[in-house]
Amino acid sequence: MHVRYVFLWGGLAACVASSNDQDADAMFVTADDASREIDRATRSKLSQAGFAEDEIRAVGESVVMSRRLSVQSFVKEANESNAAGPAFARSVRRESHGKAHACLRARFDVTTRTGSGVFQERASYPAWVRISNGGAYQRDDKAAHISRGWGIKLLGVSGTPSGTQDFLFITSPRFFIHDIRHYPNFLRSTGNGRIGFIFNALFNMSLEEKAVILHRLSLKVSNLLESPEYSAVPYSYGNEVVKYALSPCGSTPPITPENMPPPDQASDDYLTEAMDATLRNSTEGVCYDFFVQRPSADDSVENPTRAWTGEFEAVARITIPLGQHAGAGGPADHTAEANVRTCESMAFDPFNSTEASRPIGKTNLTRKVVYKKLAAFRRTELPDLFSRWRNRDDTVPAEYRNELNKLGDPESAQPIPEETREPTIDNVFRSLGIVR
Ligand code: HEM
Repeated sequence: MHVRYVFLWGGLAACVASSNDQDADAMFVTADDASREIDRATRSKLSQAGFAEDEIRAVGESVVMSRRLSVQSFVKEANESNAAGPAFARSVRRESHGKAHACLRARFDVTTRTGSGVFQERASYPAWVRISNGGAYQRDDKAAHISRGWGIKLLGVSGTPSGTQDFLFITSPRFFIHDIRHYPNFLRSTGNGRIGFIFNALFNMSLEEKAVILHRLSLKVSNLLESPEYSAVPYSYGNEVVKYALSPCGSTPPITPENMPPPDQASDDYLTEAMDATLRNSTEGVCYDFFVQRPSADDSVENPTRAWTGEFEAVARITIPLGQHAGAGGPADHTAEANVRTCESMAFDPFNSTEASRPIGKTNLTRKVVYKKLAAFRRTELPDLFSRWRNRDDTVPAEYRNELNKLGDPESAQPIPEETREPTIDNVFRSLGIVR
């Protein structure tokens, strides 16, 4: 038995080594590469927040790895889809949460009487809600996803760097990393060659992290407009520290979300279809309550692999008005060109936030570095690298050049630089009755 076990893992390791030689090179990050990503001011902020040297290096490495994975995913999608598709859809997708089911216009109404910042009594904001699958671009909704979620962007907010307040949610209250030093290897294992994923999960992650990965791989979702959603990591709420959660109006988020498998013979787009059916069939629009959750005595701020157990309190309500489903026609239909463009170009960032709702903890501080750089990479830097690569500019770094050289039909893959300004409150918000 023991010998068989050794053979099995030996074989697996050999397989990882041989099948991924070239990709393994692309995934090697030098200390210099990693440290170039962290400028002096960021380094000082991270060390003040308690990051050790190897944690700071892991943050830099995560940025480098994420960029390389973005390019891999871009090339893979272009090669698999054969046709160029409509020109407006030719963007570089997010390295994480690449597949959007839709971006929907919504209204966010504060219901608490005791909040501050955007949770001030009676405040109301127009908002975008982006509903997505986690991971790089995976077209098939049935594929094993570690995450799915919502990005919410409140517009017209004062006191934030972007004029927006962004909230990010996933379908589980547990995030799968509590030690940022494990993140680069996790990323490395999600690139080309899925066997690396198993290898990494077995040898590089802690027991708690492995448990969350198993929990999240087995947490099925049948409809992202019916499921509860969680911030998984904490935020300040005035003078308190809370986590956020969302739940359909009339319900409270469960501490352990229920497994909701897709229907038999579900299609590759079953989550988009279920979302559209809910939008089409609701009579008054889709309604979600926004909750804050205070920690119980044993709940940890720094370990997001564990769900908090404290009470939830509803503090705001989100309404997604009717008329936005695919096939509705007109400018509110989420498949309309302008909406798809806005959806792909928007960048959600937890640090687009008022001071009263600022992100807390090391996971969030890591995100402060990663999100901005990755959004810039997909929106403008990769389209620019692509043009330079097409012009045979040899200053394009080898790790990108080698990947772009794998494109079957570079002409039809040409990515278009994306809008980097925040979206405006347009007439469609007015026609849907979200603003007057
Ligand atoms: C080490 C921690 C994390 C890293 C490095 C990370 C990385 C990223 C990156 C690179 C993106 C794409 C950004 C863009 O291109 O605009 C992203 C998007 C996203 N992340 Fe994270 N993430 C982390 C933790 C989390 C956590 C704790 C949550 C829990 C809510 C989360 C939820 C999301 C969601 C929902 C999106 C998609 C937002 C959208 O619709 O654009 N992430 N993440």
